[in-house]
Amino acid sequence: MRRTTVIAALAAVGLTLSACGDDGESTSGDGNGNGGGEVEVFTWWAEGSEKAGLDALVEVFQEQHPDYEFVNGAVAGGAGSNAKNVLASRLQTNDPPETFQAHAGAELTDYIEANQVQDISNLYDENGWSDVFPEDLLELLTVDGAIYSVPSNIHRANVVWANPTVLEQAGIDPATPPASLDEWFTQLDAVQASGATALSIGTDWTQVHLLETVLLADLGPEAYIGLWDGSTDWASPEVEAALDDYAKLLEYTNTDRQNLDWPDATQQIIDGKAAYNVMGDWAEAAFQEQQQKFGTDYVAFPVPGTDGVFDFLADSFTLPVGDINTGGTEAWLDTIASPEGQKAFNLAKGSIPARTDVDASEYPEYQQTAIESFANDTIVPSLAHGAATPVAWLDAVTQAVSRFSANGNVDDLKSGLADAAANNLQQEG
Ligand code: GAL
Repeated sequence: MRRTTVIAALAAVGLTLSACGDDGESTSGDGNGNGGGEVEVFTWWAEGSEKAGLDALVEVFQEQHPDYEFVNGAVAGGAGSNAKNVLASRLQTNDPPETFQAHAGAELTDYIEANQVQDISNLYDENGWSDVFPEDLLELLTVDGAIYSVPSNIHRANVVWANPTVLEQAGIDPATPPASLDEWFTQLDAVQASGATALSIGTDWTQVHLLETVLLADLGPEAYIGLWDGSTDWASPEVEAALDDYAKLLEYTNTDRQNLDWPDATQQIIDGKAAYNVMGDWAEAAFQEQQQKFGTDYVAFPVPGTDGVFDFLADSFTLPVGDINTGGTEAWLDTIASPEGQKAFNLAKGSIPARTDVDASEYPEYQQTAIESFANDTIVPSLAHGAATPVAWLDAVTQAVSRFSANGNVDDLKSGLADAAANNLQQEG
């Protein structure tokens, strides 16, 4: 499938909901850093390498907008597992921060439909931002011609991180990654026989993350996209076979998975306790933070069966509706969009800049592979990170996946996921 076709499909996934938001008042704050006051920035980048990424951004913000005071509203929990609930209740009780993190795509559309974020097309016009971000990404931030957030970065979700020493101890050559799930199962068996954990994983959302990459590997990009627009049947033999593969993969994982967030699961690779971890490329930031050398201390490759596909997600920042320091929000968005802000943040975060005017040679080796893949590969939307479905559908998937982790009943998993799709597609339609 051609990249442009997939991008159109990807945009459609984000835009199938009927658009009705946007009666947020248009504001005229001063984005030039002259208004002053506090700017509460709400994210889930509360700890470790994620906080280091946020800190790098804040440093640029303070240089560019010294009159404003950054207030950290971060709520810990990978992928926003806690933050999104806290944010929802704050927005419901009219207590918005100056800006909050939202994923490009369907998740952002939720906030737009609920009239919780404002149209910032005027800022795009004033600052020429439409010229510096890729058109297909802008489409995911747009509803009915109005644009609602500024993207800070692009992450790739379908990446396996591996420890070469653990692989060698199991008789596996780290230089030749498995090309298919079947080849990977053979290697996972070998690692298990060597006594190490074959595949490290964490709590619910990291399992959803693994699940989406297995669906992608088995179904291919077109049918994977069809899962989110109703054109791929969740009860089909192909989807059921993919779910059987997911169930099999979970058998290779650490049994304490429910107690771990992603940094703990990725740390098992760094510590040589596990061979493989499937994680988005925020993991790269954790390897970098601990001075791990790409190619020697760790290797990375696309989830077997997904080579040539970039499972995409992007973080972006909003201008919420409500009583906020709008000038402060605009100052923050100005830093997010700036070349300096994007560079500082993405170098520290493992992601690649959303801006197109990037010098790839300024980025470490892994990120260069991601820049290359994003430019050339087929792009599909991430489920676990808000690009593919509204939050309600993702929550229903997460419940089914979490239940499976506890009861191991694959029929229950299959029917839970099919029900989640049926209920949510019905609501959209
Ligand atoms: C994603 C987010 C990333 C990273 C990751 C782990 O949803 O987009 O920036 O923070 O969660 O927490």
